[in-house]
Amino acid sequence: MTNFLSLSDVVNLDALIQSGIDAKANPFADQHLGKNKTIGLIFFNSSLRTRISTQKAAQNLGLNVITMNVGQDSWGLEMEDGVIMNSDKAEHVREAAAVIGRYCNIIGIRAFAELKDRAKDYQEQVMHQFAKYAGVPIVNLESATRHPLQSLADCITIEEVKRQTPTLPAKPKVVLTWLPHFKPLPQAVANSFCEWMNARAKSGDIEFVVTHPEGYELAPEFVGNARVIYNQDEAFEGADFIYGKNWSSYTHYGQVLTQDPSWAVTMNDIHLTNNGKFMHCLPVRRNLKVADEVLDSPHSLVIEQAANREWSAQAVLKEILKSN
Ligand code: CP
Repeated sequence: MTNFLSLSDVVNLDALIQSGIDAKANPFADQHLGKNKTIGLIFFNSSLRTRISTQKAAQNLGLNVITMNVGQDSWGLEMEDGVIMNSDKAEHVREAAAVIGRYCNIIGIRAFAELKDRAKDYQEQVMHQFAKYAGVPIVNLESATRHPLQSLADCITIEEVKRQTPTLPAKPKVVLTWLPHFKPLPQAVANSFCEWMNARAKSGDIEFVVTHPEGYELAPEFVGNARVIYNQDEAFEGADFIYGKNWSSYTHYGQVLTQDPSWAVTMNDIHLTNNGKFMHCLPVRRNLKVADEVLDSPHSLVIEQAANREWSAQAVLKEILKSN
């Protein structure tokens, strides 16, 4: 693996999931791989899980870790080529990426969608500019359109529950549901979850359904062959896993079209499922998107899911260290 920007960088998904599960069982088995090497974690946006779990995973592999918040710890970075740099951004990504690439053997980048210009966000300019100029492998710590380390942790979590629950059907039903929120949020987590679950569905591991109000259709390249059901109750019937997430509209780009509270997940929704588990990438706004009674119940997997972020990061960094 050279870069880890999306699912397309993964050669063998089953093996990567198993590598994460193995890392969880034996975190320090590959400490030699990162010895005398350094990873730089560059954040354009806030983070709790991604920052700490990736740092921990890197340390488990023997890597030194440097973390930087762009614009607070460093100069603001200009991404556009050929512009007169007379804005508040004092440094161009061409120099910044090249310089960080001299200090670090791997660079992780978090850069969210701005939600103003769909074409620009979906071009993934920040990831591609770093990949072009850094000269070292780039890891996506959540970009404008994807959050692949989260999706890998989600795959690990579902696989673990499958192995621990013999009563689950051979192809558990996984439902991605839109949740209400007053703020426009990016589509990255939902896009990525679709991308990775479609791959799992294609290999016969799960059945995948997406549910959301009209107007919240995700980009066709991410929805793929997933079944889209606009009635949430119908989608939840017999579900083994409910994955909740809010996203702003893709078609009316970046807009909040509804905040309908009936889309929040409560215990009444869980009762429609096959004793289903609830998943969310976190952070989650309690009682706006999902009720306390769900998050505080044995149905919730959110803490285990977040814990698995360490093992998804470790599986990816191990793969990159092995091939570079
Ligand atoms: N799920 C996730 O990426 O969490 P953070 O935004 O806190 O990193």
